[in-house]
Amino acid sequence: MPNGLDSEFLAKLKSKNDIVEVIGNYVSLEKKGSNYWACCPFHHEKTPSFSVNSIDQYYHCFGCGVSGDVITFVREIESVDFVDAVKILAERVKMPLPDINFDSEKTIEQKRRRDAVLKILRESAHFYLHNLNSGRADAHVQYILDRKLSSSTVRKFGLGASLDFKSLPEYLLDKGYRRDDILESGAVTETDKNRLIDAQGGRLIFPIINAFDDVVAFGGRVLEKTDFAKYKNTKETIVFNKSKNLYNINLLKKQKKAAGLKNIVMVEGYMDTISLWQAGFYNVVASMGTSLTKEQARLAKRYADDVLISYDGDFAGQKGAIRGLEILRDEGVNVRVVALPEGLDPDDVVKKYGNDGYQKCLDEAMPLIDFKLNVLGRNYDLTKTEEKREYIAQALKVIKEAESESVREDLLKTLRDKTGMTFESLRRDLDNAPSAPVVREAPEPVRNDDGADRNVKACRFILASVLFNAKYARNFDLEGVKFDNNVHNIIAQYIKGRKKNGENVRASDLFEIFDENTPELSAILDLSMGDSFEGYGAAKYFEDCVKTLERQKIEDELKRLSAACDAETELDKKRQLTRSILELTKQLKNF
Ligand code: UTP
Ligand code: MN
Repeated sequence: MPNGLDSEFLAKLKSKNDIVEVIGNYVSLEKKGSNYWACCPFHHEKTPSFSVNSIDQYYHCFGCGVSGDVITFVREIESVDFVDAVKILAERVKMPLPDINFDSEKTIEQKRRRDAVLKILRESAHFYLHNLNSGRADAHVQYILDRKLSSSTVRKFGLGASLDFKSLPEYLLDKGYRRDDILESGAVTETDKNRLIDAQGGRLIFPIINAFDDVVAFGGRVLEKTDFAKYKNTKETIVFNKSKNLYNINLLKKQKKAAGLKNIVMVEGYMDTISLWQAGFYNVVASMGTSLTKEQARLAKRYADDVLISYDGDFAGQKGAIRGLEILRDEGVNVRVVALPEGLDPDDVVKKYGNDGYQKCLDEAMPLIDFKLNVLGRNYDLTKTEEKREYIAQALKVIKEAESESVREDLLKTLRDKTGMTFESLRRDLDNAPSAPVVREAPEPVRNDDGADRNVKACRFILASVLFNAKYARNFDLEGVKFDNNVHNIIAQYIKGRKKNGENVRASDLFEIFDENTPELSAILDLSMGDSFEGYGAAKYFEDCVKTLERQKIEDELKRLSAACDAETELDKKRQLTRSILELTKQLKNF
């Protein structure tokens, strides 16, 4: 394990900390059948849907979907990291911690720096907030009024004001922060004369806060039209990577815990988010621009499987935007597209047509494939025969991608109505139409080559195929597989738990069990990129992985028997062992 805690230690720790006893210290559990039940401590509810399985030592909430083992529980309930959860549990059963340096010198320094940067950013956010309320920020306050933001909204989002270039760095230095840490935070930059200046000098400040309530960056807006970029974001730092964050994920997380989330509305901008939120749409996040990334798609999927894309009205024409939608779809998200009146963004729509007007747009959201056809339709003048033919040819390529026959039929009807062709002729043409060119890399079942040995890779691929419901893995029984790696084990437990209850397995649940930065988890989830599970040879590779593990099992057993045979003194027993060894060796040859 990366933190130096080996699986043997963890297994012992878990066996000493019975999950029913540990959870029972936090909530009152009631035994029903073989499980224990309580109202979920992680979301608000009146009737118990949080269950603890004492046999397999895991918990699962049927309401909000959280699940995990005893360590995960302590992490979540105490809001601590993995190592601290282990310390709490070890202390509880008076188990000495292994005598290892939890962290190397380098990681200690990295941790220190990260903590310092987070403190500096939080401090800066307070500084900006204070500025806004200081009576010296007239222009900023006026701007907020012009954009019709209420004071409670402003507070909720922690908006602030930068008044000049020099007061923030002075303030931070005064507080005793190190110059290099201040620069590292990105809130402050350096001029070519080595002077420190506020990176957001003079702007209206939108703090960007992650799911753990850390301020990780700022977006800053100019108050007046200038030649400068309208918004400026904090540079990439050790705590911020714009392409891996979603604006407002912090409030979204709270919303999910408090009331659950049916879906997510994904917008482009800070102002769209805030404006929708103020209008009562609490399920909104922003991708901060339109170039949605795979990481953002995954982050969104942690909170809901349905995402409504509500980008600016002019977005419909942008070809590149469809790519973002495909990224979401490829991550297993159900995407629908919200069409907005030409030229308007969500903020404008709410202002112009009110909540109901925007709600109507949401209600009419289109599935991705309908949206593609819609966009395509705008490129052709259907009154011209040539263009109409080309349109039909292109549209049929798109329709061919539909996931089911009924959807295809539906789309064909739309195409019929639009072009005046007969259904039958379109149907026949569809059968002959080429599929839309799919831009994907060459098939290659396993990408992640980080030196992990064959077994680890096999475990990863098997778990990933089951998690992402690959066809050939659907009836695979994990029961017979022994996972040495702790992360693999927990994932397998999770899958078995859901399947036993006849429920679907959702990869997104794992983020509620593990920290998103758990390397072994990333290695498994990374397999879902590209077409690892559908590509040529994937089913065959799966079979190979299963064989690899079976072979490993036999090899382990052989090792055990050989040792036993060496130690055995009774001749009869020794013979028996030798026979078993020969038998297994023969089996091994068949692999
Ligand atoms: P928009 O230009 O649509 O901004 O950019 P907006 O949110 O509607 O802004 P207002 O209403 O004019 O205030 C969408 C998002 O793209 C990013 C920001 O995250 C912005 O919210 N962006 C835009 C930048 O990072 N830099 C820019 O110069 C412009
Ligand atoms: Mn706007």
